[in-house]
Amino acid sequence: MPDEGVTSGRRFVAVNEILEKHRRRPEELVAILQEVQEVYRYLPEEVLTYVATSMGLTPARVFGVATFYENFSLEPKGKYVIRVCDGTACHVRHSAPILAALRERLGLKDGRNTTPDLTFTVETVACLGACALAPVVTINGKVHGQATPEAIVALIDELAKGERES
Ligand code: FES
Repeated sequence: MPDEGVTSGRRFVAVNEILEKHRRRPEELVAILQEVQEVYRYLPEEVLTYVATSMGLTPARVFGVATFYENFSLEPKGKYVIRVCDGTACHVRHSAPILAALRERLGLKDGRNTTPDLTFTVETVACLGACALAPVVTINGKVHGQATPEAIVALIDELAKGERES
């Protein structure tokens, strides 16, 4: 990837801007990590260490916060993050077969949640707050209600096709 160096340089600049904006205040650590995660789509270890050092905190403290909150990910995520709701309303309306169909289609085995090409990540969540539309799936935050395994797999195929053609 020829522009990898440029990209990582830009991301590094973005992290510094985030730190500046929050004036490296320890009480704003969660907000800082949220914004850093938006830049990378996850929290790389070396970036967490950098954030800790430049805020004058111990890496253990920063890692502790990053692992405490469910919304933070220390693993790289795919370009498309698919969340299958497994809250009560969705579960009784058959969310499990949707999850199974997705994992099968994407070849996710042995507890993996992300495809090796970093295109798709599949996660489950407890209640997305749209129970009337159960079962609910979100793809990069866009809500797909009354989902079926067929409809969601078709959407994924569409996205995968778009990726291959781009
Ligand atoms: S249980 Fe799925 S949106 Fe509430």
